[in-house]
Amino acid sequence: MKNLLFALLIIGCSLSAFGKEGMWIPTLLEKYTIDEMQEMGFKLTADDIYSINQNSLKDAVVIFGKGCTGAMISDQGLLLTNHHCGFSSIQSHSSVEQDYLSDGFWAMSKEEELSNPGLTARFLEQMVDVTDSVYANCDSLQAGDLQLKLNENINRLQKNASEDGKYEAVIKPLFFGNQYFLYVYKVFPDVRLVGAPPESIGKFGGDTDNWMWPRHNADFAIFRVYADENNEPAAYSESNVPYQPRKWFPISLDGVKPNDFMMLMGYPGTTQEYLPSQAVEMLIEQSNPDRIKIRTARLNIFSKHMKADPKTRIQYASKFAKSSNSWKRWKGEIRGLNRLNAVEKKREFEAEFEAWYQQNDRLEEQYRSVLPQFDKLYMDLLPFDRAYNYYQEVVFKGIDVFGLPGYFPKNDSGWKRMSESRRDLYRQAIATKIDEFYRNYDKETDQEVFLKLLRMLRQDLDPSFLPADFKEMFDRYDDEKIIRKIYDKSVLADPEKMKEISLNFNEKWIAKLQKDPLVELYHSLRFHYVRNIELVYREVNEKIDDVQKTYMQGILAMQKDERLYPDANFTMRIAYGKVQGYEPRDGVEYDYYTTLTGIMEKVATDHPDYQIPGKLKTIYSSKDFNGFSENGEMPVAYIASIHSTGGNSGSPAINANGELVGLNFDRCWEGTMSDIMFDPDQCRNIMLDVRYMLLIIDKYAGAGYLLDEMEITGNTD
Ligand code: ARG
Ligand code: ASP
Repeated sequence: MKNLLFALLIIGCSLSAFGKEGMWIPTLLEKYTIDEMQEMGFKLTADDIYSINQNSLKDAVVIFGKGCTGAMISDQGLLLTNHHCGFSSIQSHSSVEQDYLSDGFWAMSKEEELSNPGLTARFLEQMVDVTDSVYANCDSLQAGDLQLKLNENINRLQKNASEDGKYEAVIKPLFFGNQYFLYVYKVFPDVRLVGAPPESIGKFGGDTDNWMWPRHNADFAIFRVYADENNEPAAYSESNVPYQPRKWFPISLDGVKPNDFMMLMGYPGTTQEYLPSQAVEMLIEQSNPDRIKIRTARLNIFSKHMKADPKTRIQYASKFAKSSNSWKRWKGEIRGLNRLNAVEKKREFEAEFEAWYQQNDRLEEQYRSVLPQFDKLYMDLLPFDRAYNYYQEVVFKGIDVFGLPGYFPKNDSGWKRMSESRRDLYRQAIATKIDEFYRNYDKETDQEVFLKLLRMLRQDLDPSFLPADFKEMFDRYDDEKIIRKIYDKSVLADPEKMKEISLNFNEKWIAKLQKDPLVELYHSLRFHYVRNIELVYREVNEKIDDVQKTYMQGILAMQKDERLYPDANFTMRIAYGKVQGYEPRDGVEYDYYTTLTGIMEKVATDHPDYQIPGKLKTIYSSKDFNGFSENGEMPVAYIASIHSTGGNSGSPAINANGELVGLNFDRCWEGTMSDIMFDPDQCRNIMLDVRYMLLIIDKYAGAGYLLDEMEITGNTD
């Protein structure tokens, strides 16, 4: 272990070897990347980005909610993130009568800002390499014992670092556990909605344009972080005041040019750059196609019902966007990986790896079994991977009504022990959940999805992966008839009844619900899944993880002179590159930026995803862009060769001077395989030009008072 860490520390920088691939650890910039960043034009130092002794850019970058990034843009807690990151908050304040999704929302004063229970902003206090402490007293331990000891050490270290709950402290593995870092956060639970453009602007292009370039949406939303009178985290209260961050981003109107240095700071979620060929092959040949097939069916049904009824459109807007997002990315991944010959490239790398460890007996001993073990384990995994994905996509994420049985206890033992006041709290909690559930539920839609997806489950899975009674029932009778019957009989498909049940919940209902046909069906599927699929799936994956850890250790040793970055794991990273266009396919060249003129061109196609409010058309025709334009044109979005992934949404796009010029929100479709293999020719991240955002706030929404809070520099027209 020690040797390996030493090797990690002395990794030299072979600077150009990796293109702009990489998501770098903020505390290690000095070692790996700052020289290259500065060569590319960056004017600040590593300390300006991350320091615990002085205010640094890291103090202005937060985890927004559960899976996005946000950036502080004023000394009064203004937080900038994506519209799609704030989507569910915006939706939760919306109804058919008061539709903030369609119309946008703008608080015209702090009093009008809207609170969002459950939404948080996490500020990173510090991050430290704790590998040695995590591995303390582990020297002689193997496998299960080792993991137990590691977990024990991790729990202790986290507990100490949390200082009795003052902070949230999390230890995360890097390089599959070859290294560990501790992250300490301050969590602010009072985050209010300040403004969001209408969907027709924020999500212009909708799911047609999602993951695509050229892009024309202003994917931003503005929130404000509140704190108590000591500037510390506090639950929502009217007496809270705007949080004063240690650092916030100045906003530059200078815009971007080709080859400009550009940097993202944020929280990339997951990448898998060190997978073996077998894993990549399984993804291309089986996992992605399976998941795509199921989601295509579900999304088609959603679409049909959303078009037919405006109420369903709002109810299913968020569900649709969530589901279609990965669906489209999976398709892009397959194409991108095939185009890169990713499996072949991985095999070549594995051959190199083999040649490397064969140089001497000690390495041979250590690494000989890695590749054959991958062969065997991925063969074992294959059928379970299919079953796992089918159950996930059909039973756990596909059929809405299957989300309900989990709210209720399966037997009355816990209930009997509860005091009457606890029971009341429990009833209230269920009632709230049930209420939320049915607000976004349409029986017709769900029933159609139910029939379609259960059919797929039956037709595509090996019978051993299905419960016997389930198979028998559907083999014997007409499935449409059974499902209609089930839906007619089940209380789960009856919102009014369910509300009544949750408010009067008691022992009688515990027993009754377990006999409900939908609940029974769900439990039978779930039971079969837990016993016959999940267990093996997890077991094989744990073995794979062990082998992967050894493989990673080998890669780090073999490539000790190259700079390697750990896979994304939803911790703060720095990624950088250049503003540049690309050639998505033969004969086609994409420019690096788009403008409001492009919006008008799309509007002219009359496609339903390309509609904009009249007011924006007027702004366009008047050409009065409040000084936010460049050479008479109003810039909208631009791209750069920066390695990013899900979670980077809402990441500030920072220029050479450390100023915010853009807001990251997506990647180009041809480069979506970057989570598995990066291609500097094809991988581009997409950013909103901050000038278009300012135009929308100032000129479209008339919320120019917000600009007064910001520190705006530079000039365009
Ligand atoms: N593709 C973006 C990212 O992965 C999400 C964009 C959301 N917009 C939409 N039209 N669905 O999260
Ligand atoms: N749209 C993604 C996000 O929400 C970003 C990406 O995958 O490039 O984080």
